[in-house]
Amino acid sequence: MRAYQGARQQTTPVWFMRQAGRSLPEYRELRVGTRMLDACLNPELASEITLQPVRRHGVDAAIFFSDIVIPLRLAGVDVDIVAGKGPVLGKPIRTAADVAELTSIDPASLDATVFAPIAEAVRRTVTELETIGAGDTPLIGFAGAPFTLAAYLVEGGPSKDHIRARTLMHADPAAWAALMDWTADVTGAFLRAQVLAGASAAQLFDSWAGALSLDDYEQYAAPASARALTHVRDLAYPVAAAGVRSVPIVHFGVGTGELLTAMHDVGADVVGIDYRIPLDEASRRLGHTVPVQGNIDPAILDAPWPVLEAHVLDVLERGKSAPSHVLNLGHGVPPETDPAVLTRLVEFVHGI
Ligand code: CP3
Repeated sequence: MRAYQGARQQTTPVWFMRQAGRSLPEYRELRVGTRMLDACLNPELASEITLQPVRRHGVDAAIFFSDIVIPLRLAGVDVDIVAGKGPVLGKPIRTAADVAELTSIDPASLDATVFAPIAEAVRRTVTELETIGAGDTPLIGFAGAPFTLAAYLVEGGPSKDHIRARTLMHADPAAWAALMDWTADVTGAFLRAQVLAGASAAQLFDSWAGALSLDDYEQYAAPASARALTHVRDLAYPVAAAGVRSVPIVHFGVGTGELLTAMHDVGADVVGIDYRIPLDEASRRLGHTVPVQGNIDPAILDAPWPVLEAHVLDVLERGKSAPSHVLNLGHGVPPETDPAVLTRLVEFVHGI
């Protein structure tokens, strides 16, 4: 949390996007017979899966096990996660009439009762972190940014270029704006529920924002991301020595080298950097004033150790050009990753 607040730490903290998931045999075992979204809505299971990588790797943060489409599902949208594919919608949102039907669901209906399984899972996780002697390990909550969620809603599933979503924003800007505002409030409420229940930081994933030009990002995506973040802006968490601090917000997307400043400007405290741009260059684009998170190339996790070690040292060196640095991957842990490599990497970084 101190690194997120801009204070450089003697040892660089490290966690991994998708640290909870298929790379862990204990995850695969727990998930047998339970669908992904059902697992997310089972507090005991979601909490246990969140803790698995903390126990195994000794990472410096837990990331809440859930999915970006959970608030859509809780709002009543027909969405599922197909293994090996990703989120799939029963009925894609393609027209102004589809948008009107979707947005007739009042985001305020997502109240504490609806989010009860999420809040319960977060509370269990925070309590359990203390029980396993990792009480100073923070839990990071997360949500999908409106553009990335809208990309799934409009496409109806995963897509390479998100062309239907990008067409809609230009073809019917009013319908697009209504869709984005609704999505912002739904995903913002999901993030808020996690922080209220005890998450110490919040990460907004705009995974597919890199599909947008800077102009389109600023006009058609950024305002809704800023709106989503207003749902947690007023929240603070207690700090032993210093009273309260506002909840740090991390903003991450893939292929977003051209968007970094705009992504910071929506109200982020920390910018997550993918592996396509070196951290020192990313920091330069951010005026050397913004804490960064990233950006080990996930492909190198499976290279011989000396290659990975040299890469990690290079990332750490480049990270020094930012006020502070939280080490992470440039995207999620690939499912085929040998978990022993991640454990060794954490030990290596902690030993520096
Ligand atoms: O460990 C963590 O990082 C926390 C858990 C987490 C999951 N999804 C669990 C999950 C987080 C932070 C997410 C966010 C998420 N979900 C994003 C943004 C991050 C990113 O990767 O860019 C996106 C785009 C999604 C949508 C989604 N859900 C995809 C693309 C997939 C993968 C589909 C597949 O099978 O390859 C999912 C499913 C999913 N979410 C899994 C996990 C562990 C795999 C489910 C399984 O075990 O079958």
